[in-house]
Amino acid sequence: VSAVTAIDNEDRIRSANAAFWKIFPGASIGASVLENLAPEDAMKMLAAATANDIGKAAYRGRWVVTVEGEEKSFDVYSSPLAINGNRGQIVTLVDATEVAESERTLRRSESLAAVGQATTQVAHEIRNPLGSIRLGVSMLRDSVSDTDALNTIELVERGIKHLNKLVVDVTQFSRQKSLERARVDLNDSLDRSIDLVSERIREKNATVEKHFSEQPLVGQWDADQLRQVFVNVIANAVDASQENALVKIATHAISVDGDGDGHAARNYARITITDQGQGMDQQTRERIFEPFFSTKKRGTGLGLAIVKQIVELHGGRINVQSEPETGSSFTIDLPI
Ligand SMILES: Nc1ncnc2c1ncn2[C@@H]1O[C@H](COP(=O)(O)OP(=O)(O)OP(=O)(O)O)[C@@H](O)[C@H]1O
Ligand SMILES: [Mg+2]
Repeated sequence: VSAVTAIDNEDRIRSANAAFWKIFPGASIGASVLENLAPEDAMKMLAAATANDIGKAAYRGRWVVTVEGEEKSFDVYSSPLAINGNRGQIVTLVDATEVAESERTLRRSESLAAVGQATTQVAHEIRNPLGSIRLGVSMLRDSVSDTDALNTIELVERGIKHLNKLVVDVTQFSRQKSLERARVDLNDSLDRSIDLVSERIREKNATVEKHFSEQPLVGQWDADQLRQVFVNVIANAVDASQENALVKIATHAISVDGDGDGHAARNYARITITDQGQGMDQQTRERIFEPFFSTKKRGTGLGLAIVKQIVELHGGRINVQSEPETGSSFTIDLPI
């Protein structure tokens, strides 16, 4: 509801609606708009609305003010109004909080899409030469025996591996493959994923503790893409952990009640991957699903962006709980 007030030629409030009193808790009929009727930001908005003696209707801009402790955006309009033969005005404050929020989201997704397109192009351009470089270096490896040269080759190969991951990740993220659904046993899929990160697990001497549900959890999912989800989340958990740390993987069935709002009750398989690693502060936690957000030296920052994309394509959802120095816990729910 928009807030509306009528103000006379002596700057006094002649009438207003409930939405107006909410923004200006100190206001009352007869009060002057020059008095202190509300927190400073709201008073500035009111001053801007009533500043000029107006001859015609005008837009006074968008203002952000605190109302009952919450930030709200308002589009401010004023127009002339005759009150008892004198010149007054009517001020309308249109709540634009949601509009402002969706505009922000749109701007962000547009810039992400633009970045995505450019990087996809670059990734594509890198792919072919990278193949030749890889081939050339492996031929070199076979023909030299000098230790220094072999060390250099090793460095080059590590760089190639990193670039290759970047190309593969960017392509996966921007091409969003459609799902090839088939019968997948969740616990099997997790076992395979753990195998795929076994090298990283060994390097950290981490222990992976499995708490799998006894009843089999089976869904119509995309086996390859699901493995990619688990590999990324487990790899992150291991990366965040100290040596000899514990990573727990648990699965169980949950059901979510219908809400009487057209959302029927559903059964989900819930996978929880918990580490005792470095954890995240709130600022990091808010950004982890953004493409290209990484705090790692060799991270592409696409891991969790891809994870979220795949989980949502399955009609599932992913959440994280994390505290700095305590560890993180990722919860993935997949419909069964
Ligand atoms: N289990 C975790 N514990 C602490 N921080 C985490 C954890 N998982 C993710 N993060 C944070 O989220 C960031 C983004 O993760 P994401 O997997 O998207 O990218 P990345 O691991 O940095 O790079 P890559 O593309 O190689 O996966 C990480 O850089 C890290 O800061
Ligand atoms: Mg990662």
